[in-house]
Amino acid sequence: MSTDGVNTSRRMWLIGATAAVGAVGVVGAAVPFVRSWNPSAKAKAAGAPIEVDVSPIQPGQMIVVKWRGRPVWFLHRTQEELASLKTVESLLRDPNSEDPQQPDYCKNTWRSIKPEMLVLVGICTHLGCSPLYVPEKGKIEPSWEGGFFCPCHGSKYDLAGRVYAGVPAPKNLVVPPYSYTGATVITVGVDKENPA
Ligand code: FES
Repeated sequence: MSTDGVNTSRRMWLIGATAAVGAVGVVGAAVPFVRSWNPSAKAKAAGAPIEVDVSPIQPGQMIVVKWRGRPVWFLHRTQEELASLKTVESLLRDPNSEDPQQPDYCKNTWRSIKPEMLVLVGICTHLGCSPLYVPEKGKIEPSWEGGFFCPCHGSKYDLAGRVYAGVPAPKNLVVPPYSYTGATVITVGVDKENPA
């Protein structure tokens, strides 16, 4: 994890490997604390971009990093999880992410720049709860291929953050502006494809 420049203002939690997440469960997830940083006052005030080295995140693991007061998820999806995205598309409200407010690099099946690494704002698009990461097949319902479940009113999202049809949440989870600024380094808050 780099610590230079803008990369001093965040908290990070490790959600856990796939093997461990089974024990976390759908309700009351215990999130082990891994490490924290003390953001500078300047970085806090500016809502500065954050730089995250995603190389330590193993397939099936997700970390949460705080950016502009919001949780940003980094999920390293397995090849099996990526393959499952196609199988649920008929159940989704907006499988192609046609929402014009979302960046172009999320308008694909995996909703990310690199297929395996998902980057999302972890806030439900219904009323703002934080959905739970539930990767286990069949955990929420028999057809469940893994995804995110919001315990507040039952909204469901797949492993690309695409919302299911027939739930309270109206939209897919938000993909924040981000760019790769190294082979395994992501800067959240900087969109090189669509500079402000
Ligand atoms: S806030 Fe997530 S379903 Fe209502």
